Amino acid sequence: TILVLDFGSQYSHLITRRLREYNVYAEMLPCTQKISELGWKPSGVILSGGPYSVYAEDAPHVDTAVFDLNVPILGICYGMQELAWLNGKQVGRGDKREYGPATLNVVDASSPLFKGVDHSVVWMSHGDKLHGLPAGYKVIATSQNSPYCGIVHESKPIWGIQFHPEVTHSTQGKTLLKNFAVDICQAKQNWTMENFIDTEIKRIRELVGPTAEVIGAVSGGVDSTVAAKLMTEAIGDRFHAILVDNGVLRLNEAEIVKKTLGEGLKINLTVVDAADEFLDKLKGVTDPERKRKIIGNTFIEVFEKEAAKIQPKDGEEIEFLLQGTLYPDVIESISFKGPSQTIKTHHNVGGLLEDMKLKLIEPLRELFKDEVRDLGELLGISHELVWRHPFPGPGIAIRVLGEVTREQVAIARKADHIYIEEIRKAGLYNKISQAFACLLPVKSVGVMGDQRTYEQVIALRAIETTDFMTADWFPFEHAFLKNVAARIVNEVDGVARVTYDITSKPPATVEWE
Ligand code: XMP
Repeated sequence: TILVLDFGSQYSHLITRRLREYNVYAEMLPCTQKISELGWKPSGVILSGGPYSVYAEDAPHVDTAVFDLNVPILGICYGMQELAWLNGKQVGRGDKREYGPATLNVVDASSPLFKGVDHSVVWMSHGDKLHGLPAGYKVIATSQNSPYCGIVHESKPIWGIQFHPEVTHSTQGKTLLKNFAVDICQAKQNWTMENFIDTEIKRIRELVGPTAEVIGAVSGGVDSTVAAKLMTEAIGDRFHAILVDNGVLRLNEAEIVKKTLGEGLKINLTVVDAADEFLDKLKGVTDPERKRKIIGNTFIEVFEKEAAKIQPKDGEEIEFLLQGTLYPDVIESISFKGPSQTIKTHHNVGGLLEDMKLKLIEPLRELFKDEVRDLGELLGISHELVWRHPFPGPGIAIRVLGEVTREQVAIARKADHIYIEEIRKAGLYNKISQAFACLLPVKSVGVMGDQRTYEQVIALRAIETTDFMTADWFPFEHAFLKNVAARIVNEVDGVARVTYDITSKPPATVEWE
């Protein structure tokens, strides 16, 4: 395992990501981690970049016990400046900030760090730089603005680089990280999803023990399905999955989940039809945040009631709540956020834990999304489900603008179904990150046959994004849009007009509410 100590760079988690692409397991912890409290010995340590100046009074510094581990160390950007700061303090403001691409000039091609790495493009992002060599170090690479672009200790396996090998703009950065982890640290390349299944099943069995029961909500989405399937592999029917049909799921969703998860994947599943309860509470509500709150709270009530009905056999008790938390959420909560670090907790079912006195079980908390997808396919979950677009918890309630009624939900569902069907037919589903139809509560005049119509409007949305923080609208061919619009107006009663949303995020959000 490689230990990545995070100094707060926006790229830190990418270091972990890149190493895992080479099947090397890496774990990220805040830079303030006490080495004596680590509990395991890493095969190497990477000090990440960060937004601070090492010479600033409140700058974060590494626990120097890391050097007593006697394992290879690689400092990246701030990480290298930290190495220099601890060895002579020759770090200061650069004349120019260096941001963007630079050409790497390898001075010592025999350095194991640069095997397969030559005069390539590297990504820079720094204002501070080394003003001299730290004591005991030599230069192994330069760039036009950085005479100390790469350094190594004369006798110890300690490296520093000014650029960011973890971003894809550094064309050979991945190779460099692999050189460090695999050749220099000799980290094992045994991080595969096959191994993960074996070790995780063992871990779950140990944690849960021979009799305890586990419950968890499933939504029909990737994460909850993969987590549920993994639990089922580990403890069989002692895992109870609950799908709450809140009345604002996609068309036929409850049926589909029953088939794919219950019958197909043999998950011990209960579907609770609580549509009336949710829709009653949503009556007259038009404010999006109120809708979200009502749906969230009602979900907890329904789930608790259902869980109470599950009667484990004699002496057995429901002890755990399964959650499909992924690594990005964990990173969000452990990333180094500055000298006054705040740890966020990320449990959207926090209320459940307290009310029901359950312990949390999160088998996916070490995984990135694409690893969860690989895992899903290995567990026999269909390609279609594994690559499904995300669907918000409040569902169609936030895609029916204005008041949510059964009739409005039915219209939005049908339109959405046609739209997604056409996207799949056109082979575009996997090129799009998320697509859906919204029902706008405005009436518009149309003409059908010889009749004047006066009906509502459907807005179609499709976006491309990597992180859902920013997004761009998807450039459909006109013929595609024309066909979808015709189908929706012809097949969905109550719709007279279809529009396509061409706003990016920002300034718009992905959802309309
Ligand atoms: P926005 O609209 O914030 O959406 O740009 C970004 C991503 O988040 C999803 N989303 C939600 N997911 N509960 C959820 O579980 C919500 O209340 C919610 N609101 C938005 C949205 O579908 C998109 O993928």
